[in-house]
Amino acid sequence: MSLPIPSCLPARPGLVRRGAGVDGQQRRLPLAHPEHLSSPAADGSLAARSQRAVWHPCTRLRPDAGANEPPLAIARGEGPWLIDTDGRRYFDAISSWWVNLFGHANPVINAALADQMQTLEHVMLAGCTHAPAVELAERLSALTGGALGNTFYASDGASAVEIALKMSFHYWHNTGLPAKREFVCLRHSYHGETVGALAVTDVAIFRDAYAPLTRRAHVVMSPDARQANPGESAADVATRALADLEALLRERAGQIAALIVEPLVQGAAGMAMYDPSYLEGARALCDRYRVHLIADEIAVGCGRTGTFFAWEQARERQEGEALPAHAWPDFLCLSKGISGGYLPLSLVLSRPEIQRAFVADDIARSFLHSHSYTGNPLACRAALATLDLFDSEDVLARNRERARWLADAMAPLAADPRLVNVRQRGMIWAADVDPEVAGADFASRFHLAAREQGVLARPIGHTIYLMPPYVFDQTLAEWLGEQLLATLHAVAGPMPEVRHAA
Ligand SMILES: Cc1ncc(COP(=O)(O)O)c(C=O)c1O
Repeated sequence: MSLPIPSCLPARPGLVRRGAGVDGQQRRLPLAHPEHLSSPAADGSLAARSQRAVWHPCTRLRPDAGANEPPLAIARGEGPWLIDTDGRRYFDAISSWWVNLFGHANPVINAALADQMQTLEHVMLAGCTHAPAVELAERLSALTGGALGNTFYASDGASAVEIALKMSFHYWHNTGLPAKREFVCLRHSYHGETVGALAVTDVAIFRDAYAPLTRRAHVVMSPDARQANPGESAADVATRALADLEALLRERAGQIAALIVEPLVQGAAGMAMYDPSYLEGARALCDRYRVHLIADEIAVGCGRTGTFFAWEQARERQEGEALPAHAWPDFLCLSKGISGGYLPLSLVLSRPEIQRAFVADDIARSFLHSHSYTGNPLACRAALATLDLFDSEDVLARNRERARWLADAMAPLAADPRLVNVRQRGMIWAADVDPEVAGADFASRFHLAAREQGVLARPIGHTIYLMPPYVFDQTLAEWLGEQLLATLHAVAGPMPEVRHAA
């Protein structure tokens, strides 16, 4: 998810322009007419009914109801496109909060779900089991070379984070170290918004209102490469961040259960990217000081960073060389893309020794955590279809090409003097708009202007970013680059020196 910006425009017929489809065909791309920016949704519209009936997430409710932007009413999805109730199309440049991998209404996932629906829609996972849950757990463990396993299922990302935190604490308790009950997170980390996950989230806008309810974690320096001093590399920043982590562990490891990190990219921090050496260094420190390492791959897993698990990049390896078992984290949380963006599914993988600490006759030593829909067969089947697509379409290799198309298509933006810190890791591209030219309320204005260009984008503060589904070709990437540049021209002022010259 991303920082709140007012949501959406009323759905009305708009202008129409030409653009290219994912198949390279020219197609008509409907646009919003500027006059719609200020017109309130008609009372009977889906958007207006939604405002009355639905409490929308991450959305400000203003006392003047007319000031609330009506939500964008989506009727259907088709590949990378979202189509509103008036037939206007929007390229889903952020994969609907980073969940969608293979496009909307994907025929392979649809077919798997239709089949599963005829067989078993749900059964509780305590005392029962079913093939999709077992097969998914086996396949995910195999993707780690067997280093991780014991898949514990849940639904949303935050619940997976809660599970990893509780398991870590309970592990130390069961192994005779009950004092280890504190956690460490990175500056500007985001791990979800339930009370436990908020404790390891360092984004003030989400955290501060509930601070009295949380047990704040220790916050250590982020390896965010944007903090490089003149002459410093991203690896130097990672080394400094590791020194900060070590200083804390040296002092308090006896009380610390786990460090939690978003590997390679801190999403809600504004797609903060960092050097992979931080991961290997953090692994070594956690080993040295006997602290668990939790990899939150909820946003960055499933190929977003170029490898299936971002953690696979923790070490430089030869093509085909497996990551050694000891180099993996102790816990790995996955959600969002794992179901292809279809159904709420999250899970926690852990090392075999973690589960061994819960084997006992005494029920107090058991991990008595559950959710009603734990391991839902439909969600697991969607995930299996997602893994099938990775295999049958050689997605990781093809994404290397797509990542190049993205980089090429964004080159004019990268060269734009109004943008700084242009960066990319696999299928995630981001850049920061110079605050001097961004102006007030930039994220909201950019979002609305991008919709006029037929693109659904939600900047985080001054950071514009792309995290598209893996279903676009070079022509569509180029079209996207043009629309983003047009959006930037529409919302950002000229560079200060140009302003002075004028
Ligand atoms: C890294 C990370 N962890 C946890 C979460 C929380 O996931 P959910 O919104 O499904 O609870 C998110 C959501 O964006 C995330 O990016």
